[in-house]
Amino acid sequence: MSARKNGIIIALDGPSGAGKSTVARLLADGLGYMQIDTGAMYRAAALLISQAGIDVTDQLALVAFCNELDIRLELHNGRQRVVANGADVTELIRTPEMSLLTSRTSALKPVRDALLKLQRLLGSQGGVVLEGRDIGTVVFPDAELKFYLIASAEERGRRRYQELTLKGEQVSLEGTIAEVIARDQQDSERDLAPLRQAEDAIAIDSSHLTLEEVLTRMMAIFHQRTESTGSTL
Ligand code: DC
Repeated sequence: MSARKNGIIIALDGPSGAGKSTVARLLADGLGYMQIDTGAMYRAAALLISQAGIDVTDQLALVAFCNELDIRLELHNGRQRVVANGADVTELIRTPEMSLLTSRTSALKPVRDALLKLQRLLGSQGGVVLEGRDIGTVVFPDAELKFYLIASAEERGRRRYQELTLKGEQVSLEGTIAEVIARDQQDSERDLAPLRQAEDAIAIDSSHLTLEEVLTRMMAIFHQRTESTGSTL
């Protein structure tokens, strides 16, 4: 099934808060694959654009800036860190403000073009779990295995609320659910690479499943697929 050097490409798409990041990390760890969090890359790009004060309506300035973006996913003590222009921005990119800003800047073509190139470079050898919105539709339409992870907006809002309050953020549950819905809308209604399930993606609804159940399902499908096609991994 896979002619790639390090294994297959697993695309894991879905709306924000469906649990993609945790599932992607566990899936990658279980398979000895690399996890590529493309949302984190879009967040880092948004942060750099805002820190540099780039006028996003100025196409030339934006293209020039995006061509120079230096965004890396680095492992430090077994944990993945996001490094942007040399600075560790792992925590800085996770605020609600950054989520909304990223949803806007990730709709811009120069930003998508630059990150698309980088994501293809990172993933083409295989042995990767890429999580995002457009992995199965745009970044790697030829990925050997595609999952589309969903959950109701209420459930996703609740999870996000718990995550933020645990970190000490002052947010309300209603506000967090509203923010999830607003981002869904921005992500799925944009012209470029909107959030959409690939035709050949396997949808999993995590609303009423535990993390372990989601993972067990994915692992079973992975083994079924790779064994039935005799892929060497
Ligand atoms: O997965 P996340 O919440 O960290 O993503 C942050 C934003 O980046 C989200 O609003 C959608 C955007 N994004 C995207 O447009 N394409 C991707 N492949 C991943 C994320």
